[in-house]
Amino acid sequence: MATRSTITGVRSVELELADPERSARFYTDVWHLSEVARDGDTIYLRGTAEFHHILALRPSHGPARIGRVVYEARTRDIVDAIHARLAAMETPVEPPGSLDRIEGGYGFGLADPSGRCLAVVAGAACHDDDEPQPDRPHKIAHVNFNDPDAARLTAFYVDGLGMKLVDRAGRQAFLNADSPDHSSIVICQADANTLNHLSFEMADLDSVMRGAGRMSDAGYPIEWGVGRHGCADNVFAYFAGPEEIPLEYTSDVLQIDDSYPYNGPEYWAWPAGRLDQWGVTPPHTKRWKRIQNLFAFRSGGHRLRG
Ligand SMILES: [Fe+2]
Repeated sequence: MATRSTITGVRSVELELADPERSARFYTDVWHLSEVARDGDTIYLRGTAEFHHILALRPSHGPARIGRVVYEARTRDIVDAIHARLAAMETPVEPPGSLDRIEGGYGFGLADPSGRCLAVVAGAACHDDDEPQPDRPHKIAHVNFNDPDAARLTAFYVDGLGMKLVDRAGRQAFLNADSPDHSSIVICQADANTLNHLSFEMADLDSVMRGAGRMSDAGYPIEWGVGRHGCADNVFAYFAGPEEIPLEYTSDVLQIDDSYPYNGPEYWAWPAGRLDQWGVTPPHTKRWKRIQNLFAFRSGGHRLRG
């Protein structure tokens, strides 16, 4: 497929936490990321994909929240093209340039229409070893955003970031990046501007299942799953992580190309009483319902450079 003028997916997410050290122990010992660097009060964790890190943990000095979501672009030219589209939409955005971050790169910070801090980068530091490994998260598969104006946020991702709306199911819009992965961003119509969940790609179904067992052993029981979604065809298991961050292990994300046909909520509706393809998952817990509308985003300070 030809390269598209959009992001390739989620590179990393910055978490602002009450206790980053405790979370770092969880993300390494239980979730199976690897600590790759520390800089000041920030702890960087990688998966098995090439990205320098996929999580950055730092103190929140207040309620836990998402600091920033960082998107990957293939080239500087694509960074510039995305920037031009966003600037024309009067998005709060800084000029693209070289970034003084731990992984370097070229890009810019911006705020989405609800004020979440984002960034688009190209050419940031990558690891040479990037093969998926059993039982270890590879990369962030997708971020699912709750938004009171999901139509506005979806238009921002399509018209500004250049993503493609590939499916709608229930209240969710699924957006495809320049990647065979069915979707890298999911937008959910909701009452508040919060994180619905953060999804980590595992190597295979066994890795999701063994991860669910590891989580259960460590005191983090499954809140919803294990099951297989209809839309995107992926296996899922959802958990409340430290500070009640809503997390997902996933695998087997549907791989698509330009011939993939769009379908809407009527197509993806389940028969009564069914919640996944296999028909095995019980309904989500009350806790999952609560925490998938709990975790806020920082607003303000969208600039990456002073
Ligand atoms: Fe998900």
